[in-house]
Amino acid sequence: MSRRPSFPVVCAFLALLCHRVAANTEIINFLSEQQRSVDLPRPAIGNWATLNFSHNEQQWSLQPAPLGTPLHEVCETDNEVSPTGQMTCPHQVWVTLDLDDSSWANYHAFTLRLSWPASAPADFLIELYSPESLLALLSRRQRHISNPDTSHIRPPSSGESSTTYTKYARIRVVDAGVPTPQIQQPGHTDSRLSNLIVVEPVPFILILEQLYWGVLPASLLPTIGFLVPVLLVTAMAIPRIIAYLDPFVQQARQDLKNKATLEKKGQ
Ligand SMILES: *[C@@H]1O[C@H](CO)[C@@H](O)[C@H](O)[C@H]1NC(C)=O
Repeated sequence: MSRRPSFPVVCAFLALLCHRVAANTEIINFLSEQQRSVDLPRPAIGNWATLNFSHNEQQWSLQPAPLGTPLHEVCETDNEVSPTGQMTCPHQVWVTLDLDDSSWANYHAFTLRLSWPASAPADFLIELYSPESLLALLSRRQRHISNPDTSHIRPPSSGESSTTYTKYARIRVVDAGVPTPQIQQPGHTDSRLSNLIVVEPVPFILILEQLYWGVLPASLLPTIGFLVPVLLVTAMAIPRIIAYLDPFVQQARQDLKNKATLEKKGQ
């Protein structure tokens, strides 16, 4: 006997599925940990957006790197860090994840979720850096510049013992779509221009949330809170439904048997 899922459960799962279909999602789950705090150069990180407990969601728009660029090579060129120490690549965004808020003190597992419209063909890469690994990356980049001005990058002072949970997320995007030739302007005869590929900036939303019991994103809690009672009620109702239907099934079986016997006699 196959137990088919009840109607409310099917509806709930369909709603979840539809939610997925409308957008693509990239997720990174991570554990927060106490890390040594380091002095990061203000010019580089000063204007990065911050996600924190009270402001855990923000929308951006990024110009994808050209089709075919390997994600790990996006924004890896030497001139990515300007002489003032700012990162200037248009295909990436850096976000500070401020996990030091006391409201998050009891949580150690977090999820960073990036969603973008399914209509925008793009691939995203999310990477997390601790303050120390970020400093190492910045120092490496600075050395590539012909006229390095590293005075504002200070090595972590050895006497410093302060710690932080803050992490830094690096998000890069590459075009994954079918190239669309630019619509030719009337009267434009330059064939090179008509071959130019137009790639629109991709809008996306980034959400940082704690994970309950290490697995359940905070925003899914209401859905689970709805599904659990529905599933419990369904589970309790199934034996009753079977008990209710059983006499009918027995009766139908008996009728079939009788019919078969009659047909045999009639032959
Ligand atoms: C959270 O981030 C927002 C925007 O980045 C900022 O305005 C706000 O002061 C931050 N809140 C705390 C508690 O740090």
